[in-house]
Amino acid sequence: MTELMAIADKYNLAVIEDCAQAHGASVNGKKIGTFGHIGVFSFYPTKNMTCGEGGMLATWDKELAERARRLINHGQTAKYQHDVLGYNYRMTNIHAAIGIEQLRKLTGFNERRKAIAARYSREITNPAFIKPVCLPGFEHVYHQYTLGVNNRSSFIKFLETQGIGYGIHYPTAIPDQPLYQQGEILGFFTNARQASERVVSIPVHPGLTEQEVDYIVSSLQNYE
Ligand SMILES: Cc1ncc(COP(=O)(O)O)c(C=O)c1O
Repeated sequence: MTELMAIADKYNLAVIEDCAQAHGASVNGKKIGTFGHIGVFSFYPTKNMTCGEGGMLATWDKELAERARRLINHGQTAKYQHDVLGYNYRMTNIHAAIGIEQLRKLTGFNERRKAIAARYSREITNPAFIKPVCLPGFEHVYHQYTLGVNNRSSFIKFLETQGIGYGIHYPTAIPDQPLYQQGEILGFFTNARQASERVVSIPVHPGLTEQEVDYIVSSLQNYE
């Protein structure tokens, strides 16, 4: 983010941080969502915290904040006064109540995710897997613990026989999405395409017990 912000400053670009999977993560002690002009968070049910659905925008910029408040509320600047064309993107009180409670639990959820990830990083030594790397100064909150594996279909079959859940995040590189086939695609996206063929995420949610983590580690150690 520091490098990106330097480029953005040089060329006068706006930066929107996608923090959908990173509530609470930080770089050198600075929380994500505070680097760019806007940070956006997802509260979808699988995320590090949830409201059931919805999301949140964070910004230091008072004008942007006011504009966002207007847009989500039918363009109202005062009650029943519509100055701009807006939408109904308001969060309901019921969802907010869930979100407030989840926010109180977020640090605990993240600590649990980090502890599980630390065990995987330490205890999975099978060379069949490329493990995620977290560089010094970076606080990773492990929305996913994603492995790289050469023969994904065989690994997935193995996980299924072991009764271990998994996800593919994500199976299709963005330029290969059908929507983008309408235009000219510039670039090769070699790394993104390669990653989309090799990634497999293993369970890292805070509800996992130590016994379940033991089982996942020992299963993966035995994978050939
Ligand atoms: C990285 C990333 N960006 C954006 C989104 C979209 O979030 P939402 O579904 O809350 O709009 C997601 C959620 O799946 C995500 O993982």
